[in-house]
Amino acid sequence: MARLTDANVSIAEEIIARYPRAKSALIPLLHLAQEQDGWVTDEAMRHIAELIGVTPAEVLGTGTFYEMFKFEPVGKYLINVCGTMSCALLGADDLMHAAEEELGIHEGGTTDDGMFTLHRAECQAACTEAPCLQVNYRFKFRATPVEVRQLISDLRSGRLDDEVPPHGTLARIRQHIPADRGVGAVDPADVTEPPAWISAASQGGAS
Ligand code: FES
Repeated sequence: MARLTDANVSIAEEIIARYPRAKSALIPLLHLAQEQDGWVTDEAMRHIAELIGVTPAEVLGTGTFYEMFKFEPVGKYLINVCGTMSCALLGADDLMHAAEEELGIHEGGTTDDGMFTLHRAECQAACTEAPCLQVNYRFKFRATPVEVRQLISDLRSGRLDDEVPPHGTLARIRQHIPADRGVGAVDPADVTEPPAWISAASQGGAS
C-alpha cells in the first residue's frame, strides 16, 4: 500500500493550485495515484483525501463511479475484450478464448507474474471496427485470435514498450501549466455576473 511519493505530492500540489477549490482536483489526483502504482491503493486514497480536504469515503465514492479507476491490483497490461453485440457477433468469444489460452488465466484473472489482467468489457465505441479490444485503453481493431496471441507475445517481450505504457499512465509527457497561463477559474461562490455568452446572446451577439 502506497501513499503518493514526494515527487507526486509536488505534482499534486501543482494540480490542486489550478482549481479554485482543492476538491475539484480529485479526478486528476486519482489518475496520478493510478499512474504511480497501476491502481489506486487505500493509502493513496487517504492521502488524496488529506491533500484536498475531503473524507476517504468521498474519494472512494467519486472514484468508483468511473470504470477506468481500479481499486484492486491489476496487471501491467489490462486487456479489455469487448463483449457487446457487434463484437460478440464478429468473434469476441474467440478473442477471449485465445487470450485465456495464451495467458493461462480465465476472464477476470491476473497472471501470477502481475503482467496481465484480462477483462470482458462493455462496448468501446468502435462497433464499426469489431471485434475489438483495448490494452491499457489503446485500441486493437478488427482483431483475430492469431493477432491476439501475437499481441500478448509482443507485450510480454517488451516489443511494444514504446507504444503501450504500463496501466495507469495516461500520457508520457506531463502537462505543466505556469501559474500565469492558467484559465483563472473562479470559485463558484464568488461569481456574481452571468457567463459572458449569456450577455452576448441577450444582446443579439450570438449567432
Ligand atoms: S460492440 Fe464492441 S465496440 Fe461496440
